[in-house]
Amino acid sequence: MKKQYFIIDFDSTFIKSEGLEELAIVVLKNNPKKKQILAQIRKLTQQGMTGIIPFSKSLEQRISKIAPRRSDVEKLGQFLRKHISPSIARNKHFFKTYRDNIFIISGGFKEFIYPVVKPYGIHEDHIFANTFIFDNEGNYKDFDRKNLLSQDDGKVKLVQSFNLDGDIYVIGDGYTDCKLRELAAVKKFIAFTENIEREVVTANADVVAQTFDEFLYRFDLPRSFSYPKSKIRVLLLESVHPIAKEIFAKEGYEVEALAQSLSEEELVKKISSFSILGIGSRTNITEKVVDSAERLLTIARFGIGVNNIDLKACKKRGIVVFNAPYSNTRSVVELALGEIMMLGRRIFEKSALLHRGIWDKSAKNCTEVRGKKLGIIGYGHIGSQLSVLAEMMGMDVIYYDIEDKMALGKARRCETLEKLLSLSDIISVHIDGRGENTNFIDEREFRLMKDGVIFINTSRGYTVNAAALVKYINNGKIRGAGIDVFPNEPKSNDERFVSALQNLPNVILTPHIGGRSEEAQRDMGEFVPEKIINFINTGNTILSVNFPNLQLPKQGSAHRLIHIHKNVPGIMAKINGVFSDARINIVGQYLGTDADIGYVITDVNKKYDPKILSALKSIPNTRRFRVLY
Ligand code: NAI
Repeated sequence: MKKQYFIIDFDSTFIKSEGLEELAIVVLKNNPKKKQILAQIRKLTQQGMTGIIPFSKSLEQRISKIAPRRSDVEKLGQFLRKHISPSIARNKHFFKTYRDNIFIISGGFKEFIYPVVKPYGIHEDHIFANTFIFDNEGNYKDFDRKNLLSQDDGKVKLVQSFNLDGDIYVIGDGYTDCKLRELAAVKKFIAFTENIEREVVTANADVVAQTFDEFLYRFDLPRSFSYPKSKIRVLLLESVHPIAKEIFAKEGYEVEALAQSLSEEELVKKISSFSILGIGSRTNITEKVVDSAERLLTIARFGIGVNNIDLKACKKRGIVVFNAPYSNTRSVVELALGEIMMLGRRIFEKSALLHRGIWDKSAKNCTEVRGKKLGIIGYGHIGSQLSVLAEMMGMDVIYYDIEDKMALGKARRCETLEKLLSLSDIISVHIDGRGENTNFIDEREFRLMKDGVIFINTSRGYTVNAAALVKYINNGKIRGAGIDVFPNEPKSNDERFVSALQNLPNVILTPHIGGRSEEAQRDMGEFVPEKIINFINTGNTILSVNFPNLQLPKQGSAHRLIHIHKNVPGIMAKINGVFSDARINIVGQYLGTDADIGYVITDVNKKYDPKILSALKSIPNTRRFRVLY
């Protein structure tokens, strides 16, 4: 097999920016003309990199404007070590493995290149770059003008002089790299566009790689990710918080964010090239959408409720769904608590009267929350958090839950719903939206409540019988109500809201905004992408709503293979049969199952016959197979 050599450019390829420009920033720190000089330097770089002026001229003019001291160059070296292109940084393993075959060839300066590439195992004598000449005090004198790399076509002449016997791959962002392509020994020129894309360079490239992973993937070289991240496409709908886009983009994914939701038909047309889909509550993920989503690995629901997603269809296709189960918990709790206080003192009613000029100073039916019994129905994320805050306000908390939930603080569990209803001065509903909870609070439940109760519902509209609620407000049994959710909610801000609850005294109506705060939106924008990225990188399904939850250790020295299959007898034996037939050493294996599917992650030793991949893929009942790294 022919030897492979890799010639890698430094500025805007190995590091994120141009070394000389960064050097100018260090040198000109306190110079009042800094802005102008930097602009001139940038222009010269651009002209040199695109071949508008000869490289030697561009270099000479830039250096004469900078004239750095030795100490400036040392400072720059330290700075640039933290400024490495992300996809280069995550593939350190490649550099260490191929160190004998890698050359850094740059029109920059060795004095700041070496400290940056050294930790990647690159030999000092494989770095070819210009060198400065300083005087004894460390002041700039000149640069070595005899160095080939300070001259026009220096890179070409230099590589020719190597006489390398093998295939040479050149990776760079500039015109001088691109010119190497003309050399007979150069097999491929790869235009590297992670930091900057120059048309004259990409137009003359054999391959355009947005990241180093893409280059490694293309030529099947050892890499940290089996699939280049820039090829992972993310579609975000419904104006999710911009931080989500930022996080996905920072990870190297290609993100498209739309303000609106898409219809089934639109999604079917669009979804096939996306690996990740992010949605709010208005996009419906039907079986038809899932069937068209050939590449889709995971769905991010930026919120709690997942009844707009056909979870079964997703599971069948091996698509893992994540949501944000507690990003807006605190916001709902604050709304409920605020309403409890406002309703107790009849604040909205008095405020409305005063707006109409009526001065009602009476204290009748106006009460504090201190010492009152708060009955919480549903002691989940929201219910239990409300319990803690309400107790801090001096309320006496009791709760009812169908599951055995641990009491927080001094709260006490009620064995029956009936008991809670008959004891509470204030009742707040926080049960989840499962179908069986439809009309959970009905005639009978209202009848059992104390006279003059305050009633809050921020859970789901259909958990409470709306007609019964109106009846018991009208007959005075309920003296105040805070309602955030309704059986029929408008689909958009343009639709009018109509309800029998309107215009009743001491009833606070809010348009399903319990969880809508800046903080909650931002938290969701961060929480879900982190779960998704973790899933893509490690296979972790912790907190997924439709997959067996697996928490996996990180594995540095192994390959991780993911196999999702229909849960039928004997399939694990088949999977492990493939490994044992190929004499592959399993480093670790993790299995999660439910009634429908099996999710198995196998870490194997780095050296294996790639034929096993197709063998694993073709095991009957396989839903999805993926090599993680
Ligand atoms: P969760 O799932 O953490 O808690 C729900 C609790 O209710 C669980 O402990 C469950 O065992 C219990 N439960 C379910 N059915 C019950 C029943 N029939 N009787 C007694 N207990 C029952 O949910 P989380 O996050 O606390 O949310 C609670 C509700 O708030 C959900 O309905 C959710 O959709 C709603 N919500 C509303 C928001 C808004 O903007 N208004 C925002 C966020 C959530």
